[in-house]
Amino acid sequence: MQKRFLFLFPLLALLACNGLRDLPDPVGQTDWKTQELPASPQNRSGDAQAGLNYLIYGDYIGTGVPFSILEKKLTRKDTVLNRSGKNSILTYNYNAFAASNGVDVVAGNCFTCHASVLNNEVVLGLGNAESDFQKSIKFQAGMTNLVVKTKFGKKSKEYEAFEEFGHLYKAIAPWIKTPNPGVNPAFRLEEACANYRDPVDLSYRKDPNFETIRYTLAADVPPLWNIDKKNALYYNGMGRGDFAKLLMQASVLGIPDSTQARKVHRHFVDVVAWASQLQPPPYPGAVDEALAAEGRKVFDDRCSRCHGTYGEQESYPNKLVALDLVKTDPYYARYFTTTAGLAGWYNQSWFANSAPASRLEPQDGYVAPPLDGIWATAPYLHNGSVPTLEALLNSPQRPALWKRTNEYDYENVGWKYETPGKAKDGYDTRLPGYGNMGHYFGDKLSPEERKAVIEYLKTL
Ligand code: HEC
Ligand code: HEC
Repeated sequence: MQKRFLFLFPLLALLACNGLRDLPDPVGQTDWKTQELPASPQNRSGDAQAGLNYLIYGDYIGTGVPFSILEKKLTRKDTVLNRSGKNSILTYNYNAFAASNGVDVVAGNCFTCHASVLNNEVVLGLGNAESDFQKSIKFQAGMTNLVVKTKFGKKSKEYEAFEEFGHLYKAIAPWIKTPNPGVNPAFRLEEACANYRDPVDLSYRKDPNFETIRYTLAADVPPLWNIDKKNALYYNGMGRGDFAKLLMQASVLGIPDSTQARKVHRHFVDVVAWASQLQPPPYPGAVDEALAAEGRKVFDDRCSRCHGTYGEQESYPNKLVALDLVKTDPYYARYFTTTAGLAGWYNQSWFANSAPASRLEPQDGYVAPPLDGIWATAPYLHNGSVPTLEALLNSPQRPALWKRTNEYDYENVGWKYETPGKAKDGYDTRLPGYGNMGHYFGDKLSPEERKAVIEYLKTL
């Protein structure tokens, strides 16, 4: 056990009942420091516009709440995507579509998590760091179940279209309650759904496939504009093989079976094409070009071996960096290497065993991500524990407890924050899985060099 984890002992004793004792041993043993993740063949024949259309009108979530319940209540207009038909009265983060039995339903879409507001504009592809999963949705889930059942009756087509969603909604509630705001429990959601699906044909199962931990680890939502550079997806680089299969994982929420999955997959070749051509938003403020040029030299010298080079001579090494070297919070990566649950299920499933195959290959490390548009993607690190680039590159500046405001900090680049009086009112980096330690590579820079590097990062 390393020294930096000793602080966990009193916490463990106190919070054993919160599922903390289920956490894996945080120390991963690797005989490598960095490794280059290999590319897999991809189907590049997709159509980007068709991909976006499918994302904002499509049926990839499979089930949802009957549209007819919501219709009368909704008076909003889709002013972001300006969609037509039933979708014209929904906000950009919901889709109305026909479930497999023909009943129109409404469910969240990919932009629930993969779009966010910056400078009063919704940016598609920017991770949503504003969501708060600290409140349990158990009550809400129970109520929705009751309303649909009472209104339509248990034998109705509407209830049939909703039923799986309803079951899952209830089953999922305890899994996705996070101990901090802003972080996203997407993989727990996925795990909860996969747990109730037959791996081979993806049909719904009443009994769970595997056991899981009761403590919710969660992540910052990454931007979607980097996938064109990436050979492997996800923070730990575990997403290998066909990207279209990996991107459609949210379909385990509600599609009926693998016959439907095959149809969804065809559209996801287009979705990959759409995501691959996405560009980050340009930095809106003034940039000191001379200072940025200085910063570029420092960056190329100290950072590019892991993060690549930008501008005319672009390169990206696709490096997975061992936990021992990057020293950031290990639990997210360790969870996947020590728990067979999701990856075990996935690698026996339709996703892995039908062509083109995809796999989950977790390892004890984190990918050094491309830094395109990094100015816009605060907070930083896989768990979103660091509010600004200044703090990321100067570790003593990182706040142990912080609460973001809605104001962007163009000086330190990231979110302006306050220090709340009580731990529960902010992001508490002392919780396992949510630590802000590691990535000390910026600490060695002089204040002038750091300022210059940050100026350069604004230009990426
Ligand atoms: C509930 C929130 C949520 C939803 C819904 C969601 N995602 Fe994600 N997505 C995440 C989170 C969190 C991650 C980071 C997981 C990780 O890397 O370990 C992620 C990772 C990804 C990545 C990998 C990015 C990278 O750089 O490695 C892609 C691509 C992606 N999602 C696409 C999609 C698409 C397409 C949809 C809709 C079908 C979708 N996601 C739905 C939250 C979500
Ligand atoms: C040995 C490889 C390595 C070096 C050298 C390195 N980094 Fe990183 N960097 C990483 C890894 C790995 C991560 C992801 C860690 C995590 O999320 O836990 C990361 C994350 C980051 C992030 C946050 C990305 C995000 O989306 O949250 C930024 C910004 C960053 N690095 C900038 C730099 C700068 C600037 C330098 C040079 C001073 C540098 N890095 C040097 C490996 C490296």
